[in-house]
Amino acid sequence: MLHKADTSATWAVVGALGLFFIGGLLTTVVPPLVDTTWAKPFENSDPAKGPTGKLLPYTGLEKQGHAIYVREGCWYCHTQQTRTLLADTKRSGWRGVDSPVSTPDEFVFDAPHMFGTKRTGPDLSRVGGKYDEQWHRTHFRNPRDLVQGSIMPPYPWLVDNPQEFKAIVAYLQRLGRAKNWRPDGDFEK
Ligand code: HEC
Repeated sequence: MLHKADTSATWAVVGALGLFFIGGLLTTVVPPLVDTTWAKPFENSDPAKGPTGKLLPYTGLEKQGHAIYVREGCWYCHTQQTRTLLADTKRSGWRGVDSPVSTPDEFVFDAPHMFGTKRTGPDLSRVGGKYDEQWHRTHFRNPRDLVQGSIMPPYPWLVDNPQEFKAIVAYLQRLGRAKNWRPDGDFEK
């Protein structure tokens, strides 16, 4: 058979596609069948097992914020996944405590999910509670007022629309908070 693939283009192409298909199945279809906890919302109420917390469904306001995040293309520049890299867990960390790595059970209510691919801006998977509402107001109006040299565009229309501003901030403030990993007292809004 290997000899055939060497001498016949059809065999080579069919063989390559077959192997590609098997690779696709093994990396996309099989993992969620093997580990079914991924499809359930994150929940850990046992302190002995580590940080406690629970992933709640989006409220109406947060859903609206998610839609604005999609509409404004925030995901062109921002990812929402803390990878297994030290640079990520430190960047997403809080007061000297490294953040946990993102897991699938933190994203079950996201449709569509906003993992993103391009990290022009910092990752937002653990941004919830990092800044207060006033910070976001100033930052959306003009990022350069807070972060010198920031290349994030201003979004004054979000600030001028009180309902939309409330929604996008509610959405940002819940990101990454299901796992109650921050030192006590710093976690709640
Ligand atoms: C053109 C790329 C770009 C787009 C589009 C963009 N941002 Fe940003 N964002 C950045 C950059 C770069 C930074 C880092 C500098 C700063 O804080 O202003 C940043 C910072 C942030 C921060 C602070 C993160 C932290 O951990 O300090 C938040 C929150 C944020 N952006 C939210 C948003 C939201 C919400 C949208 C959509 C309405 C958006 N961004 C659109 C590039 C972008």
